[in-house]
Amino acid sequence: MSNPARPPAVGVLDQGAAATFPPGFLWGAATAAYQIEGAATEGGRTPSIWDTFSHTQGRTVAGHTGDVACDHYHRMPDDVRLMAELGLRSYRFSVSWPRVQPGGAGAVNPEGMDFYQRLVDELLGHGIEPWLTLYHWDLPQPLEDAGGWPARDTAARFADYAQLVADALGDRVKYFTTFNEPWCSAFLGYGSGVHAPGRSDGADAVRAGHHLMLGHGLAVQALRASRPDAQLGITVNLYPVTPATDSPADADAARRIDALANRFFLDPVLRGAYPADLAADLREVTDFGHVRDGDLAVISTPLDMVGVNYYSRYVVAAPAETGAAEAYWRAPSCWPGSPDVRFVTRGVPVTDMGWEIDAPGLVETLERVHRDYTDLPLYVTENGSAFVDAVADGQVDDPDRLAYFDAHLRAAHAAISAGVPLKGYFAWSLMDNFEWAWGYTKRFGMVYVDYDSQARIPKSSARWYADVIRRNGLAAQ
Ligand code: FCB
Repeated sequence: MSNPARPPAVGVLDQGAAATFPPGFLWGAATAAYQIEGAATEGGRTPSIWDTFSHTQGRTVAGHTGDVACDHYHRMPDDVRLMAELGLRSYRFSVSWPRVQPGGAGAVNPEGMDFYQRLVDELLGHGIEPWLTLYHWDLPQPLEDAGGWPARDTAARFADYAQLVADALGDRVKYFTTFNEPWCSAFLGYGSGVHAPGRSDGADAVRAGHHLMLGHGLAVQALRASRPDAQLGITVNLYPVTPATDSPADADAARRIDALANRFFLDPVLRGAYPADLAADLREVTDFGHVRDGDLAVISTPLDMVGVNYYSRYVVAAPAETGAAEAYWRAPSCWPGSPDVRFVTRGVPVTDMGWEIDAPGLVETLERVHRDYTDLPLYVTENGSAFVDAVADGQVDDPDRLAYFDAHLRAAHAAISAGVPLKGYFAWSLMDNFEWAWGYTKRFGMVYVDYDSQARIPKSSARWYADVIRRNGLAAQ
């Protein structure tokens, strides 16, 4: 890959100019089932790995769980009305596997599926395009007990589940994403263990990554056969990876992290092969004996679109005596084969997650996927920021989040101007929610959620975004 020798200046693009997006650009917001639904034991839903994990002492901040979350399961019609008020053209949500197929096997649970039937009907009734993610991290617990994603059979179980969802909703849902961020499922779930199911084994993480992609390919084949008109894709979380200096050792560190974070998924899905350097980097961890003949052909089954989640950039350096600083995504155990690469902090502004704000990185990321991998339509399926919010006089003013969105939309616009076929953008997130291991301590929403009363308060960023959608772009400043 072509990495600049030094991190580019962090800033915004086209600052101040008006930026109009192409006609039909799909403006949306995203959520995920376990993060917002609550109703964890209602309507026949059974536990997922996130129920088990969050109920295990010491796994989430303050022991927070998704038991109630935003109570969206009960408040869905009101939440859809709020989306309509904000003018959303599309809503990206995920289906809870253990709600619609309890235990991860057997027939559909009609009561669970009914929730999504009603959600889709509400959305369509308000002119909002439903965008369905099949898997946003909530594996049914019995499938984990049978081996989880490191076990090959889980891929086949996922394809069965995908078919069952498409049979129920495919007449009204056009856009399907198979997986959200398989890197997190594999490397945070089975590598560092900071996400469910909380296991920590490098070889298992690599196997999990492969079986997630196999499940993706099998599901795409099944959905393509039964729903030829559907738009099928996957969502990957991508990062530009930049060496801290122009030394060859730092360049090699960047190459290694890029292979694990980005090319591990992009190459098999869009090129039908694992990168050779990745296999070499991982030779002490795995011999890739879990990859069977024909798998990569399944994994690279043609798609209709690619979803990109973008939050930040990685700046990395070669191993040093002093060792790495360890934020949770930097934990050595989520980088098998390269555990001693150092993640460098540049001292630029960060969000409440500690993630560096780097809008130009979005342009780089989108251009790279388009240039190096595919002509397919691209969508930013997540982009957003956590900041500490305060309610004052019933209002929430969030200028930092608004500025983050503004800068990244200018980046999205710059990518389009440079020829990237970017067709839509989904803000993360519609509303504050259960931020995984961080529980309710990190707020990403455009809509504030008071978890005591479940009141929703659109923040100033939500009002601003509604205006962006109305004018199909950014006004001159
Ligand atoms: C992404 C996840 C999403 C949310 C954001 C902040 O990695 O897909 O659920 O946690 O980060």
